[in-house]
Amino acid sequence: MKTALIIGASRGIGHEFVRQYREDGWRVFATARSDDGLAALREMNADALKLDVTRVESLSGLSWQLDGVELDVAIYNAGVNSARTTGLAPITKAEFDHVFHTNVLGAMQVAPLVLPFVEAAGGTFGFLSSRMGSIALMESNGSWLYRASKAAVNSVVRAVALEAQRATCVAMHPGWVRTDMGGEDADIDVQTSVRGMRRVLARAPGERATHHGGFYNYDGNALTW
Ligand SMILES: NC(=O)c1ccc[n+]([C@@H]2O[C@H](COP(=O)([O-])OP(=O)(O)OC[C@H]3O[C@@H](n4cnc5c(N)ncnc54)[C@H](OP(=O)(O)O)[C@@H]3O)[C@@H](O)[C@H]2O)c1
Repeated sequence: MKTALIIGASRGIGHEFVRQYREDGWRVFATARSDDGLAALREMNADALKLDVTRVESLSGLSWQLDGVELDVAIYNAGVNSARTTGLAPITKAEFDHVFHTNVLGAMQVAPLVLPFVEAAGGTFGFLSSRMGSIALMESNGSWLYRASKAAVNSVVRAVALEAQRATCVAMHPGWVRTDMGGEDADIDVQTSVRGMRRVLARAPGERATHHGGFYNYDGNALTW
């Protein structure tokens, strides 16, 4: 049976990944940090794991909970936005730590734990980045803290890709998606975004030469870093 792990699946994009993979009959390990989030995942017949990516004691249980599992797909989706700012707005240490801890340090702590399970299946390891993390495509400095965090995520993906022997690693931009984070004026619904990213993840191992260590839009087009 095909198996996926979704890190950060209580709502939004992560939750929709669980719904779609379950609909297709996959076994899905999915994480949430609240009891309500865990209950909702169990209702979808996912294997619900309690995980807060900013809590080290919570991360340490991940490896034994996945013992013996081979992951066709793993997705680091957990993420937070920064306050919406314009220009070079002052950033407090607390704001910086919150955003970088979740988006970057979380990914750097989860990746080494999860990679062996993706390697075992020759699967795909996807990381939710953002077009706002692209340095080449930066035309605005709005929300510069969030932008910096996603640029750092892109670097993390390349570093993980250099480590992976069989797994294929990709950074993905989900589009501007109608979720709590994206807001109701966003361009696309969560179903469209996740359907597109699942196609990217599915195609990646077969096209490892081009996809490994790459940055992809949800519609399959490559993005520049
Ligand atoms: N929506 C967009 O337009 C858009 C665009 C570009 C990139 N992205 C990226 O796509 C990913 C998902 O975004 P979304 O729109 O679905 O956001 P969302 O609706 O705000 O959901 C964020 C998810 O991350 C989880 N999370 C946050 N902090 C966590 C922590 N410390 N430990 C574990 N889980 C944590 C949340 O769990 P809780 O419910 O427990 O808070 C929730 O499940 C993010 O990485 C985001 O940066 C989104």
